[in-house]
Amino acid sequence: MAQGIIVYVTRTGNCRKLAELAAKETGFPVHEVQDLVNRKGLWGWLKAGFQASTGTASPIKEAELNLAEPDTIILVYPVWASSVCPPIRTWLRKHTKEIQNKKIGLITSNLGSPGERVRASFEREFYPLKAFTVIQERETETERLQKVRIFIENLLKN
Ligand SMILES: Cc1cc2nc3c(=O)[nH]c(=O)nc-3n(C[C@H](O)[C@H](O)[C@H](O)COP(=O)(O)O)c2cc1C
Repeated sequence: MAQGIIVYVTRTGNCRKLAELAAKETGFPVHEVQDLVNRKGLWGWLKAGFQASTGTASPIKEAELNLAEPDTIILVYPVWASSVCPPIRTWLRKHTKEIQNKKIGLITSNLGSPGERVRASFEREFYPLKAFTVIQERETETERLQKVRIFIENLLKN
């Protein structure tokens, strides 16, 4: 049976809910990567978009983590400027050696950016994804669950 971990970043809580939903469906533990940059207000928002689209890795805080055991990693993060959000970028760079050769899947939350663009921005910068899904905030619980289940099926199949 696959052993995995769910690594997430959130600014306003949507990705935490998605990470918890994926955890319920897989039994994998969740691991939060905290963004240490103040993202409040218009300036915080503009800085977030700028950092995302310019490939910036911003400071993070996380609990101690043993990545030797899991063979599968589910990343969950919000789309910022159709790009990888900076705290996850930092986390991926920090753990590059430990996560190479693992199966990686990505769940993103957004307001409507086309999924292909979001997936391409990740794969261009990091690794090929075994599974991907983009979930819009307006989607219902049923739609979310359905997407997460399809995602997990794709991620865990051989
Ligand atoms: C700086 C910034 C840039 C964003 N850019 C996009 C975008 O390009 N496309 C999109 O669909 N949503 C965009 N969003 C919306 C978030 O992806 C969306 O609100 C997401 O669900 C937030 O997840 P969270 O609650 O886990 O932080 C952006 C949000 C922020 C703060």
